[in-house]
Amino acid sequence: MSLFITFEGPDGSGKSTQIGLLTGYLRRQGHPVYVTREPGGTPIGDQIRQILHDIHNTEMSARAEILLYSASRAQLVEQVILPRLAQGEIVLCDRYADSTFAYQGYGRRLDFEALQLITAFATQGLKPDLTIYLDLPVEEGLRRKEAANRAGQGELNRMDRLAVEFHQRVRAGYLEMARREPERWLVVDASASVEEIHRCICAQVEEKLRSLLPT
Ligand code: TMP
Repeated sequence: MSLFITFEGPDGSGKSTQIGLLTGYLRRQGHPVYVTREPGGTPIGDQIRQILHDIHNTEMSARAEILLYSASRAQLVEQVILPRLAQGEIVLCDRYADSTFAYQGYGRRLDFEALQLITAFATQGLKPDLTIYLDLPVEEGLRRKEAANRAGQGELNRMDRLAVEFHQRVRAGYLEMARREPERWLVVDASASVEEIHRCICAQVEEKLRSLLPT
């Protein structure tokens, strides 16, 4: 049974840990699971990711930025996500189009209608069945990311260098999107323990899987 689940949340919210745990949980139940991420997830997407995250690319325009994220997404949807879903796999994606609405829309204040058109074109209209948002106060997210970076884990990217107000707009944007489409979003308090968050995510994924069973 195919299912497309995306993970969203500020940097440092623990998305990777939760994706790893959910992958193990679903595989132990015999589901075929494919894990990918944005930007990237394909050889072309990974090259685009390098351009996007290069902290030296300070002159990148906001329009170029959104087109690059969308180009990476278009490649991932066509080359990986749609074929995997067609084979009945569960696809878990670390970030997807909602990151564009949160960061480029709410964060950079780019025109929403333009973002919607570009996104619909890039994704061929593919929307997630479930989007898990790991919510964390902005300062805590940035603190976690910097600590990880000092410990030699994770990369600091161009977004991490933006002002706290930018990240606050991003968080408010995520929460607004979740309020508007509650049937698709699961908002989880990312300051809870890893195990608690995992249990909450598994319960919601189980419910989604049940809802897709033929009656
Ligand atoms: P991450 O791989 O550490 O999550 O970093 C990805 C960064 O890219 C993160 O700061 C959010 C940003 N981003 C956007 O601004 N727009 C997008 O569409 C995507 C997918 C990511």
